[in-house]
Amino acid sequence: MYKYIYWYKFATPTQDYKPVILLTGGSSEVGIATAKLLSEHPEYRLIVTARDLTNITPHITESDHVWVMPLDVVDEESRKTAVAKIFERWGRVDIYINTSDICYRSSLEETKDQDDLLHIQKNYLGPVSLIRMLLPKMRKNGKGKIINISSVSGLLAFPTMSSYSASKYALEGAMEALWYELRPFGIDVSLVQPGFIHSEQHSRIKFSESKSTSTDAHDRPYQDMYNDMIPFVASLKNRSLSTPQSIAELTYNVIRTERPPLWVPASFDAEFFYYFKRWFPRRIFLPFFYWLLPGSKHWGQKITRKHDTIWIVRAFRNIVRYLSRRLSPTELKKSSSS
Ligand SMILES: NC(=O)c1ccc[n+]([C@@H]2O[C@H](COP(=O)([O-])OP(=O)(O)OC[C@H]3O[C@@H](n4cnc5c(N)ncnc54)[C@H](OP(=O)(O)O)[C@@H]3O)[C@@H](O)[C@H]2O)c1
Repeated sequence: MYKYIYWYKFATPTQDYKPVILLTGGSSEVGIATAKLLSEHPEYRLIVTARDLTNITPHITESDHVWVMPLDVVDEESRKTAVAKIFERWGRVDIYINTSDICYRSSLEETKDQDDLLHIQKNYLGPVSLIRMLLPKMRKNGKGKIINISSVSGLLAFPTMSSYSASKYALEGAMEALWYELRPFGIDVSLVQPGFIHSEQHSRIKFSESKSTSTDAHDRPYQDMYNDMIPFVASLKNRSLSTPQSIAELTYNVIRTERPPLWVPASFDAEFFYYFKRWFPRRIFLPFFYWLLPGSKHWGQKITRKHDTIWIVRAFRNIVRYLSRRLSPTELKKSSSS
């Protein structure tokens, strides 16, 4: 029910013109589900891409309207070659769907510079450069759609996922600006925002190489955080009602919708986290969210004696401090004299 709320005006392509869809990250779980769904619709021409095609070919069969092609979004040469081939054979790209991503679990301190760069390249710079190559034709045609699979991590950052969040925030910001820039040219920009997806992604967790393997607790200051966060995220994914298939169906609806919205929350948890962050006063939100994270009150205990008190105690302490300042005899004297 939830996913149909936005869809006010669907359009199906006319028989004489088949829009060309370019899908990157076609070997991801969401990518495969989307490619499978779209390949069942011969009213579109589909190009499915990934770095390693052996991950795609068992799932997708090529035909006159489905084309499987190698593309590494991070590599400029690869982008140029792929776009040139597409323009040569099908003349244009009408719809671009970006599902490529990489997601390490690492505290910011334990993330190598090169891994930060990798996240920014894969999740932001690569797709944005590809969009730049596709836009001149889309603009000339006066229509087109740019659809990015974003994440709740582009709305709310979780500990141990700083690089991923930074790249998704960057993508969200750029797409918001692009929405305004492309509106006069009839090109739509959308961010499909899944929360946690019931998928196998959590079984493929990667850490930055600089994560310590020492047995001394002092050399592994974030270990408790990893120990709590990894199963927590895994359990949220396992309980999630959203699946690669449901994200694919939602993306298909975005493709068919005339003037789809920029932000398309893809699950209840994405919607929940959006309002959760905005409705709480800023000073309360961070300590409260920290307190909600499993095991957070023990994090760092083996290393330091300094601990954050729970948010309600801090809030109470701040109120008392504020009132005692306001009600101090010197403050009262000042306000009565002014
Ligand atoms: N899974 C979740 O719980 C979840 C939650 C929220 C949002 N999302 C979003 O949903 C999308 C899909 O997620 P997923 O879990 O299905 O992904 P995934 O299974 O982890 O796969 C990521 C995909 O990105 C591709 N990729 C990585 N580097 C690439 C590069 N340099 N060039 C081209 N492709 C590259 C990989 O293809 P190669 O075979 O080429 O390596 C792979 O197919 C992502 O945008 C993710 O942020 C997922």
